[in-house]
Amino acid sequence: MKNLYIKTFGCQMNEYDSKRVSHQLSSLGYSLNDDIGVADIIVLNTCSIRQKAEDKVYSMLGRLRPYKEKNPDLIIAVGGCVAQQVGKKILGRHRHVNLVFGTKNVLNLKKMIEKIEKTGGRYVDVGANVIRDDTIDEKMDGYMVGAKNSVTIIEGCNNFCAYCIVPYVRGRERSRPEERILHEVRTLIKHGAKEVTLLGQNVNSYKDAASSSSDFPKLLDKVAAIDGLERLRIMTSHPKDLTDELIDRFGAIDKLCNNIHLPVQSGSNSVLKSMNRNYTREDYLSKVEKLQKVCNNITISTDLIVGFPSESKKDFNDTLALLRQVRYISSFSFKYSVRPGTKAASFDDDVSNSEKSERLEELQTLQKKIQLEENKKLEKRVMEILVEGASKSGENMITGRTTCNRVVNFTGDESLTGKIVSVNIEESYLNSLLGKLV
Ligand code: SAH
Ligand code: SF4
Ligand code: F3S
Repeated sequence: MKNLYIKTFGCQMNEYDSKRVSHQLSSLGYSLNDDIGVADIIVLNTCSIRQKAEDKVYSMLGRLRPYKEKNPDLIIAVGGCVAQQVGKKILGRHRHVNLVFGTKNVLNLKKMIEKIEKTGGRYVDVGANVIRDDTIDEKMDGYMVGAKNSVTIIEGCNNFCAYCIVPYVRGRERSRPEERILHEVRTLIKHGAKEVTLLGQNVNSYKDAASSSSDFPKLLDKVAAIDGLERLRIMTSHPKDLTDELIDRFGAIDKLCNNIHLPVQSGSNSVLKSMNRNYTREDYLSKVEKLQKVCNNITISTDLIVGFPSESKKDFNDTLALLRQVRYISSFSFKYSVRPGTKAASFDDDVSNSEKSERLEELQTLQKKIQLEENKKLEKRVMEILVEGASKSGENMITGRTTCNRVVNFTGDESLTGKIVSVNIEESYLNSLLGKLV
């Protein structure tokens, strides 16, 4: 057996692609090994969402040089969003890299690696028109099926939010055929999966090109009808496309979990407008209200950007007020980072870095307070947890999630993995709860 080391830098779609990589390369005799020192192939699956993410890739590439000097047969492949964005310049600047492959070329990887194994050489594979074959092998070799899994249903993005590089590095929206998605979910379940998250930059615009009767709410109905699936989640929903029909599914489908990730980005209408988000603060809040009406236990999480060009102190305060109103159970918040080629790259990046840092700190402090208060409310409650496996929080501890997406750690046997169990919540923290099996 040869060893494959993968480092995944990006989002859940990136992680999904990494699983595809290990699945494909397992048929060439490579097995996943997290000891980089014994690797025969190193794959970097990169992310370009902010400048910092891109910089991390270059610094890791620098650290890989000694591995190649020690083992000249080592194959180094760079895939993902930085690879798509920067392309062959990576080969020019990093002589130890064998292959650069784009986000649309993941399923070509096996062929490319075979070629390098046989004849050596250095390649760039970032072409736009690769025909994808999304079928996965029933045996799922190298796939690492867990209690909870993700399935990409739509790739790319058409939204062109002014700050965002994703439409450039992932291309236009492409929905996978419905019947492939259903097949993949069934296969995962056969291998022990209990929970599935349907993934896309904007799952709401899912549409199977071959079927006029397919859209995202209907896909949800069909996935939920699969026997053996216990829980269903979706990620991510663009607020502008969150229709009443979709909102209703949160009441109607039992398996659909009581949580939605609904990135708001900003609470200021003028910032939302220049971000090209296509909704107002009022639109957003009215959707939140509808969600809470159809599913009264629903929790909401979000993404936020501070210091977008021309964001004033008042705009920022509108975001803080929105946080107080919605009371998110978690959030990812970032300082605005200029991305090459985006619309906002031509705006004046006029909020200073120190001002961005101050705003981020203030926002995160408020969010922490809200989060702790929300988690505190769960103490002494008995909650249903889908067990995901061993917990890093202590010996004999296992971990899982509530349907509302809180992480719960408790003492228990790993053999409970994949089971839904009742846990009494005893203590609450910022990012997790501590409980006792009942
Ligand atoms: N498709 C998802 C977001 C994917 S990117 C959506 O539409 O919401 C994840 C998050 O990164 C975004 O929600 C945004 O908050 C953040 N982000 C994207 N581009 C950014 C940039 N240039 N600077 C800072 N944060 C950014
Ligand atoms: Fe980026 Fe906007 Fe598309 Fe999300 S919806 S990936 S933020 S362009
Ligand atoms: Fe990053 Fe690409 Fe995902 S830029 S966030 S890995 S789509």
